[in-house]
Amino acid sequence: MIKELIFRSITENDLNGVYEIENSVHYSPWQPSSFAPCFTGRNHGWLAFDGSTLCAYIILSMVADEAEILNMSVASDYQGKGVGSALLEFSIEKVGVSCENIFLEVRESNDAAIALYEKYYFCEVGRRNNYYPAKRGREDALIYALTLNV
Ligand SMILES: CC(C)(COP(=O)(O)OP(=O)(O)OC[C@H]1O[C@@H](n2cnc3c(N)ncnc32)[C@H](O)[C@@H]1OP(=O)(O)O)[C@@H](O)C(=O)NCCC(=O)NCCS
Repeated sequence: MIKELIFRSITENDLNGVYEIENSVHYSPWQPSSFAPCFTGRNHGWLAFDGSTLCAYIILSMVADEAEILNMSVASDYQGKGVGSALLEFSIEKVGVSCENIFLEVRESNDAAIALYEKYYFCEVGRRNNYYPAKRGREDALIYALTLNV
């Protein structure tokens, strides 16, 4: 049972914990170097903790009034317990201060992620054919968008 999630920005010291989750929940995980732009201010990363346990993270880019969710991951033990919802809500609130639109790409087969994004009113706005490597060949990416402040 999760009592209260604590959110804070990612730092370089978090990389090991983040990478452990990244490697365990993604079919084609990011390389550790993909997180580097978070430490130079180019991207933004927020972590969710259950007490002292890192349980999820989200990485976004924000340019002018547009944000893109580049990565969102919940540790396997914490999936299906509302952590993804809480982190997404937290991020939408943060992003909403300066951005009007949030975009993201998601594997067509990723039912859990699609359900999460649709729960927060993201709408499908496009498709990239054969975008992701998959067990059998390639898989399409669906592009989702949420317009804020309307
Ligand atoms: C996708 C992911 C971020 C969802 O986070 P989560 O903490 O498990 O999600 P939540 O428990 O907050 O559930 C949010 C909604 O998603 C849906 N959902 C959750 N797990 C689901 C599952 N296994 N199948 C279908 N729908 C599911 C439910 O509708 C749920 O809303 P509800 O409980 O109010 O009905 C998480 O499963 C994850 O990290 N997966 C691996 C990495 C990944 O796919 N990242 C996204 C890349 S775009």
